[in-house]
Amino acid sequence: MTIPPSFIHDLLNRVNIVDAIDRHVSLKKAGANYVACCPFHNEKTPSFTVSPTKQFYHCFGCGAHGNAINFLMEYSGYSFVEAVQNLAAFSGIPMPDNTQAMQKKGVHRTDGPPEKTARHAIQDIYEVMRIATRFYREQLKQSNSAISYLKQRKLTGETAARFAIGYAPEGWQNLAAIFPDYNAEKTRSLLIRAGLMIASDNGKYYDRFRDRIIFPILNQQGQIVAFGGRTVNHGEPKYLNSPETGIFIKGHEIYNLFSARKAIRNAKCVIVVEGYMDVVALSQHGIDYAVATLGTAVTDFHIQKLLRHSDRIIFCFDGDNAGKKAARRALENSLTQLSDGKTIQFLFLPENEDPDSFIHRYGKNAFEQLITQSIPLSEFLLAAYSQELNLRRDEDRAKFIHDVKPLLHSIRAPALSIMLLNRIAQMCDMDMQELEALMEIRRKVLRSPQKNMHRKQPISPYRWLLLILLHQPGYFSRLDQELILCSTDNNEELSALKVLIEVLNNKPEIVSNVPTTSLLNYLQEDSFKTLLKKIESETLEWNDGLNLDAEFSGALKKIADIQRKKRMTELHSKPLNSLTAEEKQELQRLAMH
Ligand code: UTP
Ligand code: MN
Repeated sequence: MTIPPSFIHDLLNRVNIVDAIDRHVSLKKAGANYVACCPFHNEKTPSFTVSPTKQFYHCFGCGAHGNAINFLMEYSGYSFVEAVQNLAAFSGIPMPDNTQAMQKKGVHRTDGPPEKTARHAIQDIYEVMRIATRFYREQLKQSNSAISYLKQRKLTGETAARFAIGYAPEGWQNLAAIFPDYNAEKTRSLLIRAGLMIASDNGKYYDRFRDRIIFPILNQQGQIVAFGGRTVNHGEPKYLNSPETGIFIKGHEIYNLFSARKAIRNAKCVIVVEGYMDVVALSQHGIDYAVATLGTAVTDFHIQKLLRHSDRIIFCFDGDNAGKKAARRALENSLTQLSDGKTIQFLFLPENEDPDSFIHRYGKNAFEQLITQSIPLSEFLLAAYSQELNLRRDEDRAKFIHDVKPLLHSIRAPALSIMLLNRIAQMCDMDMQELEALMEIRRKVLRSPQKNMHRKQPISPYRWLLLILLHQPGYFSRLDQELILCSTDNNEELSALKVLIEVLNNKPEIVSNVPTTSLLNYLQEDSFKTLLKKIESETLEWNDGLNLDAEFSGALKKIADIQRKKRMTELHSKPLNSLTAEEKQELQRLAMH
């Protein structure tokens, strides 16, 4: 038994999201919407927007998005059921009878069994990851050797549970035990696509993770998208990660970012460490605002993502040479992301320590003390690049200037770059103007390159249809469904549109009534939901000047045209004498259009 979806929809229909959110975050009216500084990331100007007509919130800064239930889960850390109860109580709506018993059993699902159609493939992969996580956690409880390994690493059971740490036992086919149709083609392909199973050259299949401690990796929505597996013995590699899959891009995910969001907000900073165990150990000692990349160098993508959550990033590296080298790469990748008002700092641990060993040995206070000693990016930059030079020598000063020149060119924060120039001038005993001329830098820095980054891309016709349907589902009755369903472009927007069409066909009442909640509430949590959330949020910025009718029919016309050209190319690519009479007629008809 579950909370009936009809109750959820009813609840969302009756609650006003503006009131529900305003209880926690004071909202101000701005045009048709309400705004506030986003409670989910640090900001000084409001980009958190609540739409009373569509009953959803969206933050243009960090991408947080959802309905009133999502807000409570996100903001108060409630489970789904708790958020529903809280919202129902707030609005004076009695919960359906069966939910009390259900809650005891901990059942949160609101959807039925997943339908086995192609478009659920992504959904299925998430499900497989959840099942595997449960299995690995269960196995950890049963493995004395794994438990004693974690004990020896001073991990408590409570911490292991909080990070959903598990254990993949020895053996090649353990997953068979939990996937009853393990040998079926469909299950195999799913397990392979989830990165959990490997097909060997001789046609055999085996589990990827064997005899390893398992660290589940969550994406920004809190879904399990990958695993990191540490060998318990001395096997190679020390850490084995999931391969990239349909739900996992290694360079994009950040370990623990999902769970650390609140702590990051409270601490007003985020610490980036190198390893899973570092994050886990710090958290065990009460430092919950640490995250890690997944064994890759820190990229500008990571930095951009982190800066949405906090204005202050502290990179923590081991004190050895490898750590210094990694720090330099992080430094170089940070420069383009810097702006005045953001702080990036570097923290180096004593030789032979990593955060894991340090915090166990010296404790939380010592680590926090260390944080206060972290050096600002500018200082690290100057030190790192002058380290092996003797700036009393002309040649060395020239080399220094030569080396830092490209770095200064990538800094877009105007004040910071002037201050750096100043420091360099002092260090080299040079006149500031001379240095500027030498660096050819001043004008470049003062121009704002940020503007171009937001250049609007032309909106594709599929996106237009999505935008309009999400905004006013009533347009659905005017949609040429055949045209869309026959379109075969390899395009995510088109696929999302097909999903939306299916939803609307199944829910004629949405089309015929004035919408009071977002259409997205009717959608399963699959990969298109992220795209659709983004698209839905774009409608918040619409003003009255838009002619939706014209855009709608324009988009349909464009799609028909794409189809026509595609078919023509197809026919043209066949030798003329192989075309049937009908095909020739068709070609003529298409060409006359
Ligand atoms: P380290 O080798 O520094 O390990 O790798 P660690 O975190 O201190 O691990 P313990 O304490 O020995 O358990 C840092 C990170 O680099 C990635 C992992 O993400 C690891 O957490 N890594 C490391 C790999 O992906 N593969 C490897 O073989 C080693
Ligand atoms: Mn370590």
